[in-house]
Amino acid sequence: MDELLRSPAIAQGLRKVEARIHRLSGSSVLPGINAGIGRIVGAGGKRLRPALTLATSLALGKQPDRRVITAAACVELIHTGSLVHDDLMDRAVERRGTRTLNADLGDGKALVIGDFMLAKAGLAAITSVSKPVAEVLAAVVVELAEGQYLETTDLFDERRTVDSAIRSITGKTAALFRASCLVGAVCAYASPEERARMAAYGEKFGLIFQVLDDLLDLTASAEQLGKPAGNDLRQGVYSLPLLLAGAEVTHLLGRDMTDAAVEEVLRRLRASDMVDATIDHCTGLAADALAALPVIHDGELAGLLYGLPSAYIEQVAGLARLTAAG
Ligand code: IPE
Ligand code: IPE
Ligand code: MG
Ligand code: MG
Ligand code: MG
Repeated sequence: MDELLRSPAIAQGLRKVEARIHRLSGSSVLPGINAGIGRIVGAGGKRLRPALTLATSLALGKQPDRRVITAAACVELIHTGSLVHDDLMDRAVERRGTRTLNADLGDGKALVIGDFMLAKAGLAAITSVSKPVAEVLAAVVVELAEGQYLETTDLFDERRTVDSAIRSITGKTAALFRASCLVGAVCAYASPEERARMAAYGEKFGLIFQVLDDLLDLTASAEQLGKPAGNDLRQGVYSLPLLLAGAEVTHLLGRDMTDAAVEEVLRRLRASDMVDATIDHCTGLAADALAALPVIHDGELAGLLYGLPSAYIEQVAGLARLTAAG
């Protein structure tokens, strides 16, 4: 992932995206809203989704112009707005190494600041990019809501199926990765087949990304994550890695678990084959992602997009195996 984010062509585009994000973030008539957005946007974040928009457009032969940069900024604004809503839903107190808006300003303000960000992204896309891009981004907000909603219907259900978990993460996470690539392809005037292929690549990588985030939640420390660890378990989100560990572990789950009970589940997970099973699942998704990629003539961009899924899987696998062994 670092290879993509640090490659000169992407890093240069991201600097322009950053300026656009900041302009959009300060666009309310209400200083309180601008301050709230500025806090979460300014707290960091990898900018992975806008990097994918830039990479897709470059891979398909288009230098990032004003429209690509704005589209990428809209993608990040949707992502960050969805995080504000996500932290509210997950009762999270920390995000990007700082306190969440819900923890600091209360749920009501966090809710409407998230709304503002999602709506602002749609407005900027329609006024400053194009109708097709605005349509893709509006559709992704619908899918995000559906994915998050599906998660709530499965909360604390230890019989949640793997299929149900995949359906939820396809909406809540993979859809935005899909859209990040698709809008890059649309801005590059790519053929319908190239668009579909890049979208499929983004979706498969998005699934990998969420499954590995779920794995890290069960294996990494809060310091490593910049957000609370084990939070999924406490909030009743029984994620794919947890489900792959099987009934031996899932029968221990429940509401209002004590710290000791959570620790026991995490201990059993470390002793189970959860890490290997999750990494195997992701490796299968990575093969699908690579098979979806269109022909890319630019050697550097081809290398970055081909290398991304496996490099990220290896990075997280290393971290998760280290914790499991320790
Ligand atoms: C967090 O996404 C939400 C998930 C889909 C797991 P990121 O890990 O990309 O968050 P930032 O933008 O870098 O903070
Ligand atoms: C991803 O799910 C949230 C969205 C896609 C909006 P998580 O709830 O796992 O994300 P984190 O772990 O809080 O970043
Ligand atoms: Mg969360
Ligand atoms: Mg969540
Ligand atoms: Mg998570």
